[in-house]
Amino acid sequence: MVGVVTLALGLGLGIGLSCAACPGPKPASTSSPTPSSKASIIQPSVGTTWDYPLGFPLTTSNVNSSTVFYPVDLENTSANTIAALKSAGHTVVCYFSAGSVEDYREDAGDFPAAAIGNTLDGWPDEKWLDIRNAKVREVMATRIASAASKGCVGVDPDNIDGYTNNPGFDLTEDDTVDYVQYLAKMAHDAGLAYGLKNAGAIVDRVVDVAQWAINEECAEYEECADWAPFVKAGKPVFHVEYTKDDDATSVSASKLAKACAADGQSGFSSIIKHYSLDDWIIYC
Ligand SMILES: *[C@@H]1O[C@H](CO)[C@@H](O)[C@H](O)[C@H]1NC(C)=O
Ligand SMILES: *[C@@H]1O[C@H](CO)[C@@H](O)[C@H](O)[C@H]1NC(C)=O
Repeated sequence: MVGVVTLALGLGLGIGLSCAACPGPKPASTSSPTPSSKASIIQPSVGTTWDYPLGFPLTTSNVNSSTVFYPVDLENTSANTIAALKSAGHTVVCYFSAGSVEDYREDAGDFPAAAIGNTLDGWPDEKWLDIRNAKVREVMATRIASAASKGCVGVDPDNIDGYTNNPGFDLTEDDTVDYVQYLAKMAHDAGLAYGLKNAGAIVDRVVDVAQWAINEECAEYEECADWAPFVKAGKPVFHVEYTKDDDATSVSASKLAKACAADGQSGFSSIIKHYSLDDWIIYC
């Protein structure tokens, strides 16, 4: 059921270890200019188990010891908690929003007014950012440095695809590709892995610089095949489907079938969660 997990496998190292079981592996990317730091960047393997605990504080008391990959909130997860989870064998990466400002963040005041756009649909405390803005990028570089100093081994920067919404700026797909390349370089230079969040339209253009993808609801929207290039490259796709009812304790057989066996989903690490990302989970 669960693939073998290989931690701390350098990108520059052979693919034999991580990809013995991967369909159609291809050589790892060599796009990062700093070979010395590449050696310590992790490459999780296809099929790595995961949960997305952004709506509750993950600790060594409520962690599932068999689940490997855990993105945690950068700001409200302590270095001590991250260290304890890592010693227990988990791969801990830091989540932050890279394409929006959340009013309640410590560094919310660091973004220039000119780079703050429209409110996100359904998230009244959150506004799109102009991802081309130099100061915005500087704040994100600081967050990546904070992720490294807290002990995270990678980053999960969210909301990088504002151009598909109504951000209030004239953002394009090329801007998002450029931003992903920037964030990935900052992460790699800090010794951290980088994961692509959503943004299915640009998968082919950035799969080489990302170590995994996180996708929300590709089964619901019948677009899982967009992320298949990650699996083909020997990189996991961490896939979550949601049940909109945050009190649900189970899902229908049809929802389960759709969430866990959609077209194009082969090899994905799939889970079902409440939209609130609380501690309820179904592992496919
Ligand atoms: C982190 O803080 C935000 C904002 O206060 C909150 O919504 C979220 O639930 C918190 N996450 C965790 C894991 O504590
Ligand atoms: C713990 O995680 C494993 C692998 O992710 C999963 O198969 C198992 O069902 C989980 N156990 C519980 C109690 O959730």
